[in-house]
Amino acid sequence: IKTYNLCILGFGNVGRALARHLLAKREDLRNEYGIEWRVTGVATRRMGWIADPQGIDLEALLAGNVSPTQTEPRDVQEWLQAAQADVLFELTSTNPQTGQPAIDYMRTALELGAHVVTANKGPVVHAYVELEELAQRKGKHFLFEATVMAGAPIFSLYQNSLPATKLMRFRGLLNATSNVIINEMEQGKNFAEAVKRAQELGIAETDPSLDVDGWDATVKLCAIANVLMDVPLKLEEVQREGIRELQPAELQRARAAGTPYKQVATLERVGQDVVARVQTEQVEAGDPLAAVSPASMLAHMEMDIVPGGLTVTLHLPEDETAGPDATAYDVMADFIRAVSA
Ligand code: HSE
Repeated sequence: IKTYNLCILGFGNVGRALARHLLAKREDLRNEYGIEWRVTGVATRRMGWIADPQGIDLEALLAGNVSPTQTEPRDVQEWLQAAQADVLFELTSTNPQTGQPAIDYMRTALELGAHVVTANKGPVVHAYVELEELAQRKGKHFLFEATVMAGAPIFSLYQNSLPATKLMRFRGLLNATSNVIINEMEQGKNFAEAVKRAQELGIAETDPSLDVDGWDATVKLCAIANVLMDVPLKLEEVQREGIRELQPAELQRARAAGTPYKQVATLERVGQDVVARVQTEQVEAGDPLAAVSPASMLAHMEMDIVPGGLTVTLHLPEDETAGPDATAYDVMADFIRAVSA
């Protein structure tokens, strides 16, 4: 039975939730998957690069007691080497519009022969082909299930359960914050109050303009197009419309008529290309998007397999949206997939 050396880069809410999941599932991983693990590296801006190839006491770390550093790595490469990393969990706060510094960290880890799992969507948009090719050349995996609809297996479902299909069309609600804001305004709140509500729920991006101006949904659409459609869609190629212009009175009227406004994200194959849009639409009564509760996400994926398309729908219920536990679960599941494949 192999013991994998795990390195966690970024020990915030997601990193800590991952640590708790790993501890809770230790027996299952050993008994059902033949996977043993120890955490040999943890790094954050506050703690610096901590590495111990014998294993760091994760429970002590969660309790706030950092175990002593036996080596003193100065950068990500020295840290991964000192920790003898088999797997890097890349959980830093990274700018989704550039994917950095996560891309550099992951390139280094793959070069050193570690599997890489990330919760950052930027790298999937800006460096998917490069990192995937590098991983393949090294016989390793680059996985990122947590990046879009964390808690719902959008990438692994498609790749593992829908072989030999082409994703033709995608339509969904990918930004929970916009959905919450629209819902609040339907109930008479003004825009600023509605943004505040999304922040209280802990789902808004640190800079909520990324949500309200459609950037978050745009980044997620590009990730889906890159991975599931093999089209290197760039952020600037997405027709993007935010929700700032929406007026409460109009939103209330539309909601009362059963045809609410939603920030809808769509991808459609046209020949070799993809047409991508994030736009505010008044959806029809009876459209499943109309009934999606405020902090939820939904994805319809239409494959080319039967005339008219085979459609799979993923719904991420309210409580789970953007929660660190769901994100960290996806990260752990990617680890299991990476080392079991
Ligand atoms: N800000 C994002 C949202 C978080 O509202 O959907 C989840 O990716």
